[in-house]
Amino acid sequence: MRLDVVSIFPEYLTPLDLSLIGKARRDGLLDLHVHDLRAFTTDRHHTVDDSPFGGGAGMVMKPEPWAAALEHVVAEGAGAGGAEPHADVPHLLVPGPGGVPFTQAMAHQLAAEPWLAFACGRYEGIDERVYEHAAERMPVTVVSLGDYVLNGGEVAVLAVVEAVARLLPGVVGNAASLVEESHEGGLLEYPVYTRPASWVDGDTVRDVPAVLLSGDHGAIERWRHDERVARTAARRPDLVAAAATVGGLYDLDVTVAVPADAPELLVLQRACWMPEGRVSGSWRIPPLDEELDDVVRGLGEWTTWVVRTPAAGGAPGRLVGSVRGRLRPGDPHVWESGRLMVAPDLQGRGLGRALLELAEAGAPATVDTFWINTGRVSEGNIRRYRRAGYRLLPGEGSFPGSVDLTKRRR
Ligand code: ADE
Repeated sequence: MRLDVVSIFPEYLTPLDLSLIGKARRDGLLDLHVHDLRAFTTDRHHTVDDSPFGGGAGMVMKPEPWAAALEHVVAEGAGAGGAEPHADVPHLLVPGPGGVPFTQAMAHQLAAEPWLAFACGRYEGIDERVYEHAAERMPVTVVSLGDYVLNGGEVAVLAVVEAVARLLPGVVGNAASLVEESHEGGLLEYPVYTRPASWVDGDTVRDVPAVLLSGDHGAIERWRHDERVARTAARRPDLVAAAATVGGLYDLDVTVAVPADAPELLVLQRACWMPEGRVSGSWRIPPLDEELDDVVRGLGEWTTWVVRTPAAGGAPGRLVGSVRGRLRPGDPHVWESGRLMVAPDLQGRGLGRALLELAEAGAPATVDTFWINTGRVSEGNIRRYRRAGYRLLPGEGSFPGSVDLTKRRR
């Protein structure tokens, strides 16, 4: 992969000589070229900035040096055949707090490209016409490391180059270590431990979790998965929503429901609870009996997640699944899940199970018991909840004609 970086501080990029990235360069896996923007100025003072039109604080980077630098990058790179021929133009990445969020998924996409160029802005930014100029010549993406402001793009380039380069074949020795890390599969990494198994830390003895010493690889894998889900739920609930699209359902979008979702929720719940009404001989089942106002009110009392097919042509996707969860009122130890529903054409593909896991992952740390309720006649639901680890409680459930099921949190 060829990389070009344009900056007024080329020395900022010297860490790319170090460690695995430095080795990848020496091994010929990365062909990195750093360019000084000031080399493309034409005045005696090598001026790269000027005051903003319209007034305001700070300085703006002038367009002409940028156009010259990009032209140089394209000409130099396109002429360099090398062992790995690449595209005619690079994909230009401009780091900035106003960009699209840089993610592991984007790192994977960029790692598949033959040639990336980076334009490091400083001051208040680069004259907007540079983006237009560049976009007429090459793909351009403004990328942000996060919702905070750095002094310039160089630190972001270091981060992006490291995240991308380590995905190239041969850069990281043990490819397996790339699979089980944070953000792969949409979850954060599980906790890791090494010797000693029992660490005497002053007055405290800190033991490694016993399961890791058990030699039971199945149990270790389950423990690690549970830890990833729990850690992600605690630190990054936004990612848990995305991770719920397991079981080959990666193309679905999961969001927390808003009142505008209520009409579709009402339609879906009536469709999903019809069979139960028919078998039980009663339509006085809450999901069937509710009106739109009740559904909207429920959104305020529960956290409700909705699953949609991808938006297309400006229209939102179809609402095909939902689940909701909440702390039992007055009891911080019990997490109630409910209204688990999947559109008829998507049933039997693991979406229901994934939604239940999503609702459980939303439970705060105080929770030690998961609770769910279903119709006594809903044998399929009871079977599914049992498979998910729930136990049927004896006697009548919390509503007439229903049963309650619970499971201990692991
Ligand atoms: N340049 C300044 N702030 C930045 C950010 N948050 N991400 C990427 N580049 C930046």
